[in-house]
Amino acid sequence: MAQVRLRVPLFWSTLLSLVLVYLLLAYGFPALTMVVTGSDRWIPVPRTLMAMFMILAIVGALVYVSTSDEKLAEFTRPLQTVLRGDLEGRWSLWARGARLLCLLVVPLIVGGLVYLQVRPSVGSPTALRIQHPTIPGAFERLTNPFRNPDGTIKEGKVLEEGAVLYQKNCRPCHGTTAGGDGPMGWGFRLKPANFRDPGTIATLVEAYLVWRIKEGGIGLPPEASPWDSAMPSWKGELSDEEIWKIILAEYDTAGVEPRKPEKSP
Ligand code: HEC
Repeated sequence: MAQVRLRVPLFWSTLLSLVLVYLLLAYGFPALTMVVTGSDRWIPVPRTLMAMFMILAIVGALVYVSTSDEKLAEFTRPLQTVLRGDLEGRWSLWARGARLLCLLVVPLIVGGLVYLQVRPSVGSPTALRIQHPTIPGAFERLTNPFRNPDGTIKEGKVLEEGAVLYQKNCRPCHGTTAGGDGPMGWGFRLKPANFRDPGTIATLVEAYLVWRIKEGGIGLPPEASPWDSAMPSWKGELSDEEIWKIILAEYDTAGVEPRKPEKSP
């Protein structure tokens, strides 16, 4: 007795199984986590784990279809038909269309994906960073209103006020003792300046600091790789007076002196 059985061709059933595995990983398991944890948020399967499972599923499917010559022949038949485009009769147009699609669209998609992967990103170029670019003219001649002409700090509580402002605003990055080791600083690739290091503020005049504090990393010229610097721009946050006070405290906390400005001719 002839058996009438509706059979999905092996190629399509294999493809369908893979799609099912994907749906299970992407939605099935996460949905299950909601039931297990009783939470209303699901826990997605990590991408690397998903990739691993999918590769295993694909390898498994390929092993299965190659267990016998018949299976392999059945599996590859639709592929061969499409690639040869030699179907007769009412399917021939479809087969030719599908072949054109495969030969054109698939390489384009694969090429596009590869391009997106390897295309250089807009990250920082590997040029050496110029740490102290030239100060813009507008800042060059500024002097600290809280210092006497001989460099000593004027009477009053300015240093204390500056220290409070420093600890409040700058400590998270530049550290309690100005060592560049604040808790937030560890998160940056270019570490916050260590003001105790003789190569930072000790080599700079105070006017230079005003510029750097007001304009921050984004105010640096290109040769100083502004895209690397997390130094905020403080001009909207702190008044000029506050900045001058912070600068006093910055030097005091770090235990260094500002460079004396050259006498202007
Ligand atoms: C979000 C972290 C962060 C905070 C907050 C921060 N800075 Fe910075 N700062 C940096 C980083 C990173 C650098 C090094 C890169 C650069 O020079 O722009 C830097 C550099 C500097 C420099 C330049 C030093 C040199 O030798 O060129 C000065 C001056 C400075 N900061 C002062 C301050 C002051 C004052 C405050 C508080 C008002 C402050 N910073 C707050 C991250 C920070």
